Amino acid sequence: MCGIVGYIGPKEKKSILLDGLQELEYRGYDSAGFAVISGGKLSHFKAVGKLANLRKKAADFTSEGPGAAIGHTRWATHGKPTELNAHPHMGAFSYVVHNGIIENYRPLKEELEAQGVRFLSQTDTEVIVHLFEQKIREGLEPFEAFRATIGRLEGAYAILLISEAAPETIFFAKNGSPLLIALDGEEIYFASSDTAVIGKAQEAYYLEDGEYGYARPGEVRLYRPDDEPKALTTIPLPSDKAMAQKDGYRFFMEKEIYEQSTVIGDTILGRVLDEGIEFEELPDGFFDGIASITICACGTSYHAGLTGAYLLERMARIPCRVEIASEFRYKEPLLSPDTLFVTISQSGETADTLEALKMAKRAGLRSLTICNVDNSSIVRESDAAILTRAGIEKGVASTKAFATQVMVLWMLTLHLGQKRGTLESATIRREIDAMRRSPSALLVEEKLHERIHRLSKRYLHGHGFFFIGRDLFFPLALEGALKLKEISYLHAEGYPAGEMKHGPIALADAELFTIALMPRTLLYDKIKSNVEELSARDATILAISPEEFELADDFIRTKHAEHPMLEFFEMMVVTQLLAMEIAIRLGNDVDMPRNLAKSVTVE
Ligand code: AGP
Repeated sequence: MCGIVGYIGPKEKKSILLDGLQELEYRGYDSAGFAVISGGKLSHFKAVGKLANLRKKAADFTSEGPGAAIGHTRWATHGKPTELNAHPHMGAFSYVVHNGIIENYRPLKEELEAQGVRFLSQTDTEVIVHLFEQKIREGLEPFEAFRATIGRLEGAYAILLISEAAPETIFFAKNGSPLLIALDGEEIYFASSDTAVIGKAQEAYYLEDGEYGYARPGEVRLYRPDDEPKALTTIPLPSDKAMAQKDGYRFFMEKEIYEQSTVIGDTILGRVLDEGIEFEELPDGFFDGIASITICACGTSYHAGLTGAYLLERMARIPCRVEIASEFRYKEPLLSPDTLFVTISQSGETADTLEALKMAKRAGLRSLTICNVDNSSIVRESDAAILTRAGIEKGVASTKAFATQVMVLWMLTLHLGQKRGTLESATIRREIDAMRRSPSALLVEEKLHERIHRLSKRYLHGHGFFFIGRDLFFPLALEGALKLKEISYLHAEGYPAGEMKHGPIALADAELFTIALMPRTLLYDKIKSNVEELSARDATILAISPEEFELADDFIRTKHAEHPMLEFFEMMVVTQLLAMEIAIRLGNDVDMPRNLAKSVTVE
């Protein structure tokens, strides 16, 4: 989730850009940079780490007078967080900043390199500026060169480009990643989120997918995807910055639940291909000689690992065990060098997981991490990393990080299944089709959210909750219980549905709330009979299922899906919203629950 700012006007540009980027810090980043064209001269500055490093680098620079400027904070997805990979990316006479993923950057890069273009960075973004300059060299006017450039891009992007070929002009384009234009008299601002321009401009236009154009002092030319001109119809900017950081949601957690449908698209972009799954971040032969997998994590990440183990054993036919990192560290585990040690961590800084990883490495195991923060300690310590691309997760209770971790494990399963020859091509096609439908399975429908909000008033007391599920839905039950515990402070347990009769059913009475995950595509009859046992003992049951369940006291209907993972993602959203709505009714701080930290960097 990178941050983008742009400005055209007479004011001092460096401070406008840096202040704008400062307002976007909440989106998370690992490097930053800006470029200014003023008096026909291009200047640029880039720095790794916090904005303070960039401010220091540009301390002696100032840019009064007419000109154009673009700035960027980067959250690494392609290429390490280094100065070279920081934006803006430069050509011979132009600079570009970009948020999103150019899915076809590799063939474009090969085409340009074949024409002698030398790339400096490992990023997908750099192809944009070289493509633009190639069109200029072919004789196209700057705007036609820009139009032709975006015509070749596939994937998600929000782009700002400046060039000596068109001083005082910013070329812009939006597809899949947010971008807005804000106006204040003759001055023109660009931003990826309105928090960067609140207080600077009065009104804004939020670009639609496929729209593009250019801006010059006092003039903005906007075009629709069909290349027809479009009038710029602005609306007033929000006045409350904190609200704007949450994009109008009540909590970051709520925003991040709603974001899951979008970020999962980033997670699969460039990896889920028609012919199968590719991880360009993994060296060739990375899995050679691997006979089993040990997954090690904590909390929600551990639940993602449990989910992945079901998939890996069932489809890739590889033995897979899952360990809680704080237990693993002291149990004197038997470790074999033909085991791949996979850590899962949103923050990449969890002490127990990091120490467990070091133990495995000392024992000679190959290591892979599934992580959301590039350059984190766990990423640096691992032999290879697959980034989840969830963007910064501000809510302490993890939501989109969990969803993207599970998606990476599902993709890894297919990737390994292909390599090990355990999957028919028809199966691979079916799985890929289901993966591509995951964004819609994660979509939060207003009706559903409203229903959960209304139901939540019935679950504010009681002597406890059981979340029950079978197979893949058992780790989801664990995760649903953790979400509720974390933010409502009510006691909840996740349990394998088949285990209830081995003791816990003794707790069954009207004050025991059972949240039953009842997917249609996996062991439905089994879970149904487990829930009937509980209902017969008067437990209060909330059934989550595509099938009406007449013995339930409450019922949340989910969509019929033809794949268990689509039911998994949809029921995951239901449990996340249920936990949040109960916590809101109890008046808790949903984003910063008591006693918890976003990253547990101590034992
Ligand atoms: C998740 O909601 C919790 N905040 C917590 O369990 C978290 O998943 C755990 O601390 C592991 O963190 P990590 O993913 O950053 O390693």
